[in-house]
Amino acid sequence: MVSKPLLYLDACAATPPDPQVLEQMQQQQNRFWGNPSSVHPAGIAAAELLERSRQRLLELLGWPQGQVVFTSGGTEADNLALLGVARSMEPARLLISPLEHPAVSAAAAQLQQEGWTLELLPLNERGQIDLDALEGLLEPPTQLVSIAWASSELGTLQPMDAIAARCAAAGIPLHSDAVQVIGQLPLAGLQPIGPDLISLSAHKFQGPRGIGALVMQRPLHLKPQLLGGGQESGLRSGTESPWLAAALVQALERREAQQPQLARRLRRQRDQLLEDLLKRGGIRLSGSSDLDQRLPHHISLLLSDSAGEPVSGRAIVRALAAHGVAISSGSACSSGRDRPSASLLATGVPSHEASSGIRISLGPWIEDNQLADLPDLLESQLRIPNAPAP
Ligand SMILES: Cc1ncc(COP(=O)(O)O)c(C=O)c1O
Repeated sequence: MVSKPLLYLDACAATPPDPQVLEQMQQQQNRFWGNPSSVHPAGIAAAELLERSRQRLLELLGWPQGQVVFTSGGTEADNLALLGVARSMEPARLLISPLEHPAVSAAAAQLQQEGWTLELLPLNERGQIDLDALEGLLEPPTQLVSIAWASSELGTLQPMDAIAARCAAAGIPLHSDAVQVIGQLPLAGLQPIGPDLISLSAHKFQGPRGIGALVMQRPLHLKPQLLGGGQESGLRSGTESPWLAAALVQALERREAQQPQLARRLRRQRDQLLEDLLKRGGIRLSGSSDLDQRLPHHISLLLSDSAGEPVSGRAIVRALAAHGVAISSGSACSSGRDRPSASLLATGVPSHEASSGIRISLGPWIEDNQLADLPDLLESQLRIPNAPAP
């Protein structure tokens, strides 16, 4: 049997690695296999590749005075940011958004166990942080703020410059989980003020799995969370992988070289697809309706059947998968579970509709004509009698 090629529309969960990045990685793995801590030529060559990658990442981000800690991915970078900053001080108050990935919200919950007060910042009607409320909370005992730059589930971009300006004026460190933003938007537009620390992950921008980074605009005092040989300036023990670090940087360079055309192209495809989808019954947009305030490749929808009853997002994801279309019913980590989406609830979606969300996320591998049949397919799935309820 010849199976149809998969139409892969789940870029926010994972992206297919760029073949050129994989090829370079393979070559570098063969050449730079030495331990970067060793002082013989094999080690020195590996250490040089690692340091070049570190410097290049800072250059790409426009943070020449910064510091990079390579990690295993976004989750570890988020954990290091929250636990590392918080555990270097006495317990105080931590502010996060209600749209965080579990890598942030679970670390914040852990800090609560350790005596920190955790406060969820309110959102305005566009699903963005209420800046007045933030400003009102930027006083003692607040000592740390962490706000995802973009929600993976809803695609809403936060007004990071305004948030960063307020945190900087109050002298309170700001971390942002930028895992869904880095590689999707031109880097040049991101830095004017910027958070003090950001997390990023290579597998979201066609780099390899297993490498990410916590990047600081300026070195900050962090308590290491992995103890051992003191690699990464003592902030993350464990033998480093220079070829993975170099592959992260190459993948980001390749994305950046395609910008701003790439973001424009994805946005055009996204806008056309969304327009076609919203003409169908039972399909509504969730998250911000101001498309400029969303990730350019991201669509999040709420689904209902012909009787207007919410339909399970997970069931629709499975049904589309059977037709060779890969989407998601929310953030990948929670899509294995059928429970109301905390992000939808936080943006005011009633609980009986909060399991009816799906996410479609595009990537450079998509051609315009591949999207043409999707609205019909999705609509037909919603019309199937007895479509499973959430
Ligand atoms: C916003 C956000 N933060 C963190 C992560 C975790 O990153 P990783 O899969 O590299 O651990 C993800 C992954 O989906 C994410 O979307």
